[in-house]
Amino acid sequence: MAALATAGLEPRTDGALAGMEDVSEGGALRAELLTGQTGVRITGVAVDDMTDAQIEAVRRLVSTYCVAVFPEQFVTPQQHVAFVRRFHPITFTPGEDRHVDWPDVHVIARPGNDLPPINGFHTDTCFVERPPSYTSLAAVELPPTGGDTVFANLYIAYEGLSPVMQRWLSGLRFKHVVTGTKRPEEVPNPVWHPALRTNPVTGRKALYVTLPMRCIEAEGMTQREGKNLIAFLYEHAQNIYAMYRHRWQPGDLVMWDNRCTLHAGVYDHGDAPRTLYRVMCEGERPFE
Ligand code: SIN
Repeated sequence: MAALATAGLEPRTDGALAGMEDVSEGGALRAELLTGQTGVRITGVAVDDMTDAQIEAVRRLVSTYCVAVFPEQFVTPQQHVAFVRRFHPITFTPGEDRHVDWPDVHVIARPGNDLPPINGFHTDTCFVERPPSYTSLAAVELPPTGGDTVFANLYIAYEGLSPVMQRWLSGLRFKHVVTGTKRPEEVPNPVWHPALRTNPVTGRKALYVTLPMRCIEAEGMTQREGKNLIAFLYEHAQNIYAMYRHRWQPGDLVMWDNRCTLHAGVYDHGDAPRTLYRVMCEGERPFE
């Protein structure tokens, strides 16, 4: 792992990631970039069969490239929960319903006629003191077309700001409030989080902004200033240069790092059912 950390995980010309040879112990873990900078596809070892070193490699890959796709896993809910638990203890969004048989599982089964779109880009459960670090989704039932999930890279969003704006955001905090849960009264809020967030795995800084209805105020600024600033940053973060769009396939398991990633389900699948199981694990209190 030391070699991995120092080698970084730079793309090679053959599409593989330099550094992977250092983490393939116990089997051939392979990773390929899915776009220029966002998203990796990890193959070679089943998620329920990874060594501790491979889990650490996966942690680094997800936190470096924001989102990882593990194709053809077909995990059971128990295997899914056991995999995510290897990264951190499991957590759950307060105010949401738990699966009746697997209480660590949240069932995502949204209607597929989302007009006008209501599910904008967001980072999961930002309205708690310690938002989840990683979220994972496993495909259960997929529509024939549509129902993709799109991811945006918040490291690139930060790095795309001018040095003046980066300095200005440094030390600033945003107020986060709960929306979109079934029982918002169960969620203690608001909380204040830094506008810039350092990912403890990579040491890289990311913009930490989410849906303007959840991220509603900038500390020390007027309502109008804060709202305009947040609206600008939120729009800035949605740059196609920094995105990966996942088209779900049966058996897929997808995992992302909420500390450096926005995501949005595209609920355009009409009447066709689409069910994903979501499992998340704990994160730290955000810090700049
Ligand atoms: C979510 O928005 O948290 C779920 C994403 C999805 O349904 O693809």
